[in-house]
Amino acid sequence: MVAEAGIQATAALYRPGLEGVPATQSAVCDIDGQRGILSYRGYRVEDLASQSTFLETTYLLIWGELPDAEQLAAFEQEVQMHRRVSFRIRDMMKSFPSQGHPMDALQASAASLGLFYSRRALDNPEYIYGAVVRLIAKIPTMVAAFQLIRKGQDPIQPRDDLAYASNFLYMLTEREPDPLAARIFDACLILHAEHSLNASTFSARVTASTLTDPYAVVASAVGTLAGPLHGGANEDVLTMLEEIGSEDQVEPWLDRAIAEKRKIMGFGHREYKVKDPRAVILQKLAEQLFDAFGHDPLYDLARKLEAVAADRLGPKGIYPNVDFYSGLVYRKLGIPEDLFTPIFAIARTAGWLAHWKEQLGANRIFRPTQIYTGYAARELTPIEAR
Ligand code: ACO
Repeated sequence: MVAEAGIQATAALYRPGLEGVPATQSAVCDIDGQRGILSYRGYRVEDLASQSTFLETTYLLIWGELPDAEQLAAFEQEVQMHRRVSFRIRDMMKSFPSQGHPMDALQASAASLGLFYSRRALDNPEYIYGAVVRLIAKIPTMVAAFQLIRKGQDPIQPRDDLAYASNFLYMLTEREPDPLAARIFDACLILHAEHSLNASTFSARVTASTLTDPYAVVASAVGTLAGPLHGGANEDVLTMLEEIGSEDQVEPWLDRAIAEKRKIMGFGHREYKVKDPRAVILQKLAEQLFDAFGHDPLYDLARKLEAVAADRLGPKGIYPNVDFYSGLVYRKLGIPEDLFTPIFAIARTAGWLAHWKEQLGANRIFRPTQIYTGYAARELTPIEAR
């Protein structure tokens, strides 16, 4: 018998996916989904993407204020000093299957950092600073390392003369990147750094609330980001554009997809009912890259899809999200498709850590309730009598 009484008592409170339910208080990031405005600590993301760097934005997100020149130089230097990862972690990564997804490799590698660094100092600001530095520094190194390892090569060491974004692209491609490409990549990291209580950040906060170590916090968030309804969509957008194939196929393809009730990857957002402001900026960054390094015909197809979808899905408030144009940027930068989500994770580590720190500042363990829909008390029948 189903427990009807219990369901009715709490059903009014229940929102699938916690839509519209405040689950925390936070001063990190604000989204105005009706007007398409995103700000980190009060600063518009457009201003940060054009005037800040990823490391400066990371500092802002985590410590709440923009650093002065001395604080930023010290943070950059600390991050640079901690980019290398232990040979033990590299050796562990060499035993990962080369066909495994890089997000799974990243989740395992991020979790492994907890084996190396103590978890028992969550009230010590120096420990917090050190953990932030290590994670921000080492996550990109681990993403690049797995890319080389799965190709049968040894990972290459970070280069101290290169800034954060340039160094990552160098470790990935073994070539020093063009300064414009590196600057655009750094702006992409800023755009992906934080987005309030999305699924992976919620996951990070829940994990943080148990007072476990920050490496477990980031590892759990990486696992959550990997799904196709969240960070994994950026990879699927290119697959979708390739499947559509040509501009004249856009309309019939979209009509078919809508009729079959398929989700269009890179469209829709729980918060935004207009075009995601990050998609607007990413589109401009993509155009800058195409001007400098050559056009990508998939971009024309993407624009056509956006235009046709505006008629079909716009009335429901479904517009391109951050993932729609980011894949085209990464593709132009020569980054393999299955690294798009790990790159998202590199950036979002900043936001996860900002929420980790905020959670520790006013912690209460997450423990929501449920509406029980199972059986009422039942007699256990011995196995021989079933
Ligand atoms: N394509 C077509 N229809 C859509 C889409 C889409 N991409 N997104 C939402 N809808 C429709 C749904 O079918 C539903 O229609 P209905 O009311 O007629 O049944 C309605 O809009 C509401 O959709 P939900 O899935 O309930 O919206 P929710 O807020 O739960 O989901 C999500 C948001 C997961 C982002 C969704 O829009 C989606 O699946 N998008 C595609 C995947 C994607 O791009 N994810 C990346 C999001 S950004 C990020 O995480 C970084």
